[in-house]
Amino acid sequence: HATPYTPALIVGTGYGAAVTALRLGEAGIRTTMIEMGQQWNTPGPDGKVFCSTLDPDRRSMWFHRRTEAPLDTFLWLDVVNRDLGTPYAGVLDRIDYPNMGVYVGRGVGGGSLVNGGMAPTPQRAYFEKVLPQVDADAMYRRYFPLARRMLGVNTIDPRYLEKTPAYQYARVSRKHAHQAGFRTAVVPNVYSFDYLEKEERRTVPRSALAGEVIYGNNHGKQSLDKTYLADAVGTGNVTIRTLTRVTTIRRQGNGYLVGLEQIDTAGKVLKRSELACRYLFLGAGSVGTTELLLRARETGTLPDLPAAIGNGWGGNGNVMTARANHLWDPTGPLQSTIPTLAIDNWNDPVHPAFAEIAPLPVGLETWASLYLAITVNPERGHFTYNHSTDRADLHWSADQSTPSVRSAQALFDRINKAVGTTYRRDLFSGNRPFAADFCYHPLGGCLLGKATDTYGRVVGHSNLYVTDGSLIPGSLGVNPFVTITALAERNVARLLATDLKP
Ligand code: FDA
Repeated sequence: HATPYTPALIVGTGYGAAVTALRLGEAGIRTTMIEMGQQWNTPGPDGKVFCSTLDPDRRSMWFHRRTEAPLDTFLWLDVVNRDLGTPYAGVLDRIDYPNMGVYVGRGVGGGSLVNGGMAPTPQRAYFEKVLPQVDADAMYRRYFPLARRMLGVNTIDPRYLEKTPAYQYARVSRKHAHQAGFRTAVVPNVYSFDYLEKEERRTVPRSALAGEVIYGNNHGKQSLDKTYLADAVGTGNVTIRTLTRVTTIRRQGNGYLVGLEQIDTAGKVLKRSELACRYLFLGAGSVGTTELLLRARETGTLPDLPAAIGNGWGGNGNVMTARANHLWDPTGPLQSTIPTLAIDNWNDPVHPAFAEIAPLPVGLETWASLYLAITVNPERGHFTYNHSTDRADLHWSADQSTPSVRSAQALFDRINKAVGTTYRRDLFSGNRPFAADFCYHPLGGCLLGKATDTYGRVVGHSNLYVTDGSLIPGSLGVNPFVTITALAERNVARLLATDLKP
């Protein structure tokens, strides 16, 4: 039997992968996408596709025995996380390394299924510093606007923001930030704010107002399966294979041969097979893409891959923290899971931070203000291949998170001082006011201009491309998916003009 063949193969279905699939499909190139997670379109016994953060079940986590929410305690009690029974192919994964837990989405749409939908564009000056090889003019004139339009980015109606009980938590945090002399900013999102207003009026089923987000939104969110991927499949040239993991990559002729492992939702391996392709695009995310290339280099299937693969990883300076409010400053029992305001201290010369005001949607008054801060952290981690586990190990020491904590602390110390409040220590295990040992924004591992050329072509390997967050060197200053999308648009436009023949 001849090995099955597809002209183009894309690993993963996150942002970079989805952009690439649509543009290849439009160009008439037959393309197969391989996704290890599920297609999330089938309701469970409760009639819902996804479970909520308030009542998580096996759909919540990717083969974990217990949920691993970023807040692990409440009033120091172990009441947040739940046992899940038999491991299942759920939608959120947390990959644990020493000193760093990396959250990622699993399923058709990757991170878009589980993320908060925040869709800011980085400040141009910082973008130019992070990715100097990229023509910023083309990005800001063409590719960022294109990405925002394709992703369905919208902004909350300011009148609604000022009056709804669902954003009282955001207004309280904004007031405190202003009292301390900080600027705040409205952050665009891909969650439909029209839908959200209807949720409040109860004319549609609730999602953002029903505690749904990190384990998926049943309504309202324009995740990639509803935007880029729907369009890609609509070209008639793109197919998506789910519950299938790419394990190995080797060269064959002028293309590649990838090893596949198909599983059921309980994780049982049903079949191992191979698929040949001419063009191979890696969109498995920072951790997934880096691991595939490291494995190929270190097991000798692609021994000449560049030494730079595995380097330049960062968690976008993510730090989570919470403040305890005065009794006269309640944040409200109804909290939209979709953040819409941020404290913008990005121009601080010593401690730049962009802190999104996050919800604590537990359905009762908590008097807590929660934040996910994005900070500048010059530290970088690196991955090495572990032969005994066949995985990539991330090397990140606890000390490397210190610059992030310092920047967040500079901001929130000032707010606490101005308002006369303190930190909450009951939300993160170990009595800590800051949690910098996990991240939502893994970036890097296959850096643009180092492991690849300036368009994502893997150095020394024709027809092999990287198209996701692993291209970005560890830091962006804002939430990353708009940038990952815009960069993928730019790169694939060039590759279609030069490398790919329909
Ligand atoms: P992404 O991680 O999206 O997709 C990779 C896909 O490849 C996954 O579906 C994975 O299952 C699959 N895969 C991996 N290895 C594979 C293999 N070997 N074989 C087959 N498939 C494989 N960002 C933002 O801008 N605004 C926000 O509000 C948030 N909020 C947020 C909250 C939470 C809880 C998380 C976890 C993340 C965010 N993010 C975010 C981050 C954002 O979601 C993230 O940066 C992007 O999804 C990264 O896009 P990529 O294209 O790099 O890969």
